[in-house]
Formats: sequence, C-alpha cells, structure tokens
Amino acid sequence: MSMFPETRLRRLRRNATFRRMVRETHLTVDNLIYPMFVRPGSGVKNPIASMPGQFQWSVDTLVEETKAIADLGVPAVMFFGIPKMKDAHGSQAYAMDAIVCRAVEAVKQACPELCVITDVCLCEYTDHGHCGLLSENLDGQQDVDNDATLEVLAQEALAHVRAGADMVAPSDMMDGRVAEIRDLLDNEGYHEVPIMAYSAKFSSAFYGPFRDAAESPPQFGDRRSYQMDPANSNEAMREIELDVEEGADIVMVKPAMPYLDIIQRAYDQFELPIAAYNVSGEYAMIKAAAERGWIEEKNAVLESMLGIRRAGAQLILTYWAKDVAQWLHEGASPDNS
Ligand code: PBG
Repeated sequence: MSMFPETRLRRLRRNATFRRMVRETHLTVDNLIYPMFVRPGSGVKNPIASMPGQFQWSVDTLVEETKAIADLGVPAVMFFGIPKMKDAHGSQAYAMDAIVCRAVEAVKQACPELCVITDVCLCEYTDHGHCGLLSENLDGQQDVDNDATLEVLAQEALAHVRAGADMVAPSDMMDGRVAEIRDLLDNEGYHEVPIMAYSAKFSSAFYGPFRDAAESPPQFGDRRSYQMDPANSNEAMREIELDVEEGADIVMVKPAMPYLDIIQRAYDQFELPIAAYNVSGEYAMIKAAAERGWIEEKNAVLESMLGIRRAGAQLILTYWAKDVAQWLHEGASPDNS
C-alpha cells in the first residue's frame, strides 16, 4: 500500500460530489419498516410517554396514519396489538376478532400495496406478560413452556394471515416456532406467506419503553430463560441457522445499535435478507437527548440508520421510519442532512 504523501485519503473527501461518488452505503425508504401499536376503541391516539412521537392507535386512526406512511413510500408496517382483555393463555392473540386481525383487514383494504407484517408473540396478550404459556420447570419454578406455546403461536400467525397479513414475525424466542408456524401456514394453503423471524433476539434493557407502549411488562421474573444472553455471538449464529433451516425468509437481529457485530456476522454468514430492530430504548435515548438540546436528532438518526445498513441489515424496523422517509424526500444525505 502506498503511503503519505503520495496517498492522501482527503482528496476524495474534498467536496460533496466526490463524497457522493465514493459513498459505500446508502439508505432509502425501501429499507424501512414502521412498527405501530393498535388497541380497541375509536378516535384513539394515545401518546406513549417514553417514546415521544409514537402513539397507540385505534383501527380508524391507524388506517389514516398508515395511508400517510404509504404515501411517503415506506414499504412496510408492523403491528403490535393491545387486546381488550388478557388471560393466562393469551386467547386474544389468536381470536379471529383479535385487535391485530381487525387492524390488518382495515389497513389492507385502505392500502393494498403496503406490506403489513404482524408481530407474533404472546406477551401482549397474557396476563402474566410472558411470551408463552407457563408451567412448572425442573426447579419447581413457573417458567415459559416451550412446546406448549408452539401451537398457540402457530394459531396466532394463522389468524393474522387469514385476516390478510402479508408476513408474520415471531418474536417469542421459543425453540422450533418457525417450523411450527411454517407447517401450519403451508397446511392451510398459505405457503406463499413469508416469515420474518426474530432470530437473534437478546434479553435487553433497551426494550423498556416498548413494554409501556404494548402494556406488556412481565409480571414476575424476566425473559432471560428464552431471550438470548447479550454476551453471546456464536449462539446468535446458531439461532439464525436453525431459523433458516426451519424456513425463515428473513432473519432479524434485535436490538440493533448495541449488536452491530451480530448483524455483520449474520450478513457475512447467511445469504438471506437481514433485518435489524432499532428498538424502543434506542429511540428513547436519542429523543431524550434531542429534547434537552444535547444532540441533533435528524443527524444522529440518519447516522445510526447508516451504521445499521453498513453492518449489513437490509431492513430496519424503526420508530423513525416516517421521519426518515420524510427527511429522505426532502433530499437528506450525509452531506446536507
Ligand atoms: C415482544 C416484543 C418486544 C419487542 C418487540 N416484540 C418486547 C420484549 O421482548 O420484551 C421490543 C421492541 C422494542 O423495544 O421496540 N416479545
């Protein structure tokens, strides 16, 4: 490699045109998926305190908001449901009149081109707030029962797909759930519906604001017996590999920013699209600092998005999807953001 003074890397940084020509990573609206929360009622637009700018919607207001999102060119949304009642079995997760199903129907009717993804999990629907059904484990403790949960998750995915969901995204972290969902969807004639698996989902402190938004904090214990240990990278590759073998079409790493190494490894190792979930805590951090005037929101967000893309994620689930789409339409780039 030649050295200074023959080599000067600043030459190609000198002006915006050069920078544009040699830029290696790009962010477009095509990369964005917007997660949204839907609850029963009408005319609802409840602000979520720990996520400024995000709301719980009712089906009618959700439809209006998704129209605006589709108009901005965002290709996909993902829905989380807050049910009218919770029970130990999460029965509102798979009821045909479940809130997510009603939302999917209404939004698909209003915006047929928009890709509607549903989060498949039980934590929003169980009164104990865990992501699966409970039973006693070997130590005599209440714990999430992996195998008993699988069928319920598959039924939930099927209900969403019957309502018109374009894609399902299991986020529970049970072993074997992708295969169980794939089997049931195929048996019911939905072999064309893809699965985006939350494959490497870490047990993270960055989900805090989401649990307020989805009203789903665990009522006892934590999620460490099913979500991944933040220390583990090899295990994340095994999780992804298993989901790919079970039929996942897209695999997700979650959270995004503290796990860029996992995204990069997944990108290097696997040939299918990688999604990254820029989670509620990542959103809340920048929002809170921006509110205090300590950080410039737009630049910090676009830089974060670019970082996630650079690591290898093709799709980014982010609460900034609408803002980012707006900024990109206004011509934002790393040079004039
Ligand atoms: C449900 C689920 C969670 C998130 C997405 N799906 C919460 C959790 O696992 O505790 C978090 C999303 C976010 O923080 O933005 N299992």
